[in-house]
Amino acid sequence: MNSLTPKQYKIIDFHRETNDTVTLTADMKIKHEPGQFVEVSLPGIGEAPISICSFSKDYVKLNIRQVGNMTNALAGLKKGDKICIRGPYGTGYPMHYFKGDNLIIIGGGCGVAPLKGIIDYVEKFRKDYGDIILFLGYRSPDDILFQKELDEWKEKFDLTVTVDQNSESKFCYDANTEFVTEALKRAEFDNEKKVAFICGPPIMMKFVVGILKDKGFNDDQIYLSFERHMKCGVQKCGHCMINGIYVCKDGPVFRYDQVTELSEKW
Ligand SMILES: Cc1cc2nc3c(=O)[nH]c(=O)nc-3n(C[C@H](O)[C@H](O)[C@H](O)COP(=O)(O)OP(=O)(O)OC[C@H]3O[C@@H](n4cnc5c(N)ncnc54)[C@H](O)[C@@H]3O)c2cc1C
Ligand code: FES
Repeated sequence: MNSLTPKQYKIIDFHRETNDTVTLTADMKIKHEPGQFVEVSLPGIGEAPISICSFSKDYVKLNIRQVGNMTNALAGLKKGDKICIRGPYGTGYPMHYFKGDNLIIIGGGCGVAPLKGIIDYVEKFRKDYGDIILFLGYRSPDDILFQKELDEWKEKFDLTVTVDQNSESKFCYDANTEFVTEALKRAEFDNEKKVAFICGPPIMMKFVVGILKDKGFNDDQIYLSFERHMKCGVQKCGHCMINGIYVCKDGPVFRYDQVTELSEKW
């Protein structure tokens, strides 16, 4: 179902995560890989690429951060409303390559959303993987995404949540007050069979790559997810191009050794 024509889907669940983010569940039944994205549109308003933040054959979850026209309109919808979606697009995380590996998942802010696709995936195929270690960093407790899921992840995985600064908050998840990079620096990853997945602001990804390399990760054991301005999502318009690479088609997920020069342009 990779047609360029959007189809209409019903919103079957709507959840406000934080002051400026919501998670929509659409009744879209598609085969996809964690890390892929869809183009979501509302007639008369616009279209936006949004990562799939779930892994299910029965629905697609989308975490939306309100930054402009389109994302504000999406956040104003409710259960039962319809949205148009085309895709899935892009290259996701090739999860079958990592069977038996320890998985280290490092997310910053809304970069946690595409990584949640991996978390949902490994929950389904838990026995195929070794340790699952999550480092999730946010600006403040009010910005912590997926609060509903955190207790469950804490039970199943090795979970660290950090906030840059603490504040009086209606959410009171027990997070360390430090940058996520500080928590990562203390961690030990002795096993050779390991792979890291990073998604977050460019500066955070840059530091995280440096820390992982200091800890002995090879470039081909690090995967990054890039966000570039996109229009078509399917290698037609050139909007997302950087150094001859189409981020929409060749990415948004890249193995670090394949894009070391791109990291200079983050
Ligand atoms: C592969 C991919 C996956 C994405 N996944 C998600 C997701 O899961 N959830 C989510 O909320 N957003 C995601 N985005 C970003 C989202 O597409 C933009 O925020 C959205 O298009 C903004 O549209 P708007 O009309 O609301 O705001 P606009 O008015 O178009 O833009 C508002 C502000 O956001 C900036 N902006 C717009 N598009 C991007 C972009 N692609 N990257 C960085 N800044 C941008 C603009 O420069 C401007 O400052 C993703 C983008 C890509 C390329
Ligand atoms: S978004 Fe059009 S070519 Fe990538």
